[in-house]
Amino acid sequence: MSKQATIEIDGKKYEFPLITGTENEVAIDIATLRSATGGVITLDSGFKNTGSCESAITFLDGEKGILRYRGYSIEELAKKVDFLEVTYLLIFGELPTKAQNDKFHDDIKAQSTVDEDIKKILEAFPKTAHPMGIISSLTSALTAFNPSSVNVNSEEDMYKAIVKILGKMPVLVAWTMRKKQGLPLDYGDDSLGYVENILKMMFAKPNCKYVQNKILVDALDKLLILHADHEQNCSTSTVRIVGSAHAGLFASISAGISALWGPLHGGANQAVLEMLQAIEADGGDTKKYMSKAKDKNDPFRLMGFGHRVYKNFDPRAKIIKKAADEVLEALGIDDPILAIAKGLEKEALEDPYFVERKLYPNVDFYSGVIYRAMNIPQEMFTVMFAIGRLPGWIAQWREMRLRKEPIGRPRQLYIGETLRPYIDVDNR
Ligand code: ACO
Repeated sequence: MSKQATIEIDGKKYEFPLITGTENEVAIDIATLRSATGGVITLDSGFKNTGSCESAITFLDGEKGILRYRGYSIEELAKKVDFLEVTYLLIFGELPTKAQNDKFHDDIKAQSTVDEDIKKILEAFPKTAHPMGIISSLTSALTAFNPSSVNVNSEEDMYKAIVKILGKMPVLVAWTMRKKQGLPLDYGDDSLGYVENILKMMFAKPNCKYVQNKILVDALDKLLILHADHEQNCSTSTVRIVGSAHAGLFASISAGISALWGPLHGGANQAVLEMLQAIEADGGDTKKYMSKAKDKNDPFRLMGFGHRVYKNFDPRAKIIKKAADEVLEALGIDDPILAIAKGLEKEALEDPYFVERKLYPNVDFYSGVIYRAMNIPQEMFTVMFAIGRLPGWIAQWREMRLRKEPIGRPRQLYIGETLRPYIDVDNR
């Protein structure tokens, strides 16, 4: 007999099925709660206890510090495969064969140009615009250039939309950066790997041949893999909920980019570096900033620390910390910012405030140090995260549509005025 959970309200008992996932996580299925009880709902601000869907893409255990894509550990993937293979794995469920991977890459390459009219939209943005706002707008604009809606019952239609966005988004990203730097736009090079081409489009100078640096290619590849999916986080939930209204893939991803921009989410990587620079400019007194972070009357938070789900070390942070050391050493960079980051981490890991609250460095604590070593402007850090998260957003959107999930529409507990009589303007 299947297991049940019992909820008692005013002496009356209601039974709800308990559902167990493949990793033995247990959920109470309350789909019939409201109808069975005559209107009772659950209230869970910030969804700290609420599952919004069943998903077969990413498993994470925040207590144990486990992260797996489609069953493969993040540690193994970061070591053994490249970002494009991880993209394929997340979206289609299996690691590609060589032939599948080559075809996937060829199909993406075939879509790696954008309509020249996109340049006119790009031109219209002021120099002061944040790249995340530009990328979100341009991704949304792709819908205008590709108006036919995706038939989700057609694998072919889905596939076409997927390779389109994977081909075009790096172009939008690179062009946004170059426009802000006053550089001519670069069209990339089809003979390059996916990540190599991103670097070329971002950094090639108009007057000389771009030479790839293997250290940078490998570091970016790894960073993108580590960011590729993280189950139902804020931006991914946004993508799923926008898509649940049957909005198209590009529109849904544009909404996800906006959600990612927030400093409590993807925007944290930029905020971390700004914080480390501010500490350095202020004399490098990490203790002062530790006190500020603990002071409840001070809004300052130690950026890059804490995570909604990880209450143990973020496994991605472990890999990134090591990568930051390797990249800086290989490039011969002695960055005082890295020393401040390490100092803060050491203090926080020994401080009862952080220990009791299980606040550990998250993925963003060290990623900014690597991006900085790669000469990526600070404002572009969150955009790099968006390129990394793109496969996750696509995979989650596709899963949601294939599973024919209903439109996402939470309930609320109304706490406003009850019915009151209208007051004429002269009597207010
Ligand atoms: N610095 C100082 N105190 C913190 C921090 C921090 N970075 N993070 C959490 N706390 C404290 C809170 O003040 C709270 O203390 P209290 O219990 O005394 O009130 C307690 O720890 C719990 O914090 P919540 O905000 O309730 O935890 P929540 O799960 O809602 O938030 C979040 C998680 C948003 C990531 C938070 O830790 C934070 O703001 N971190 C800094 C921003 C950041 O690095 N974001 C990136 C997250 S990773 C990603 O999106 C890729």
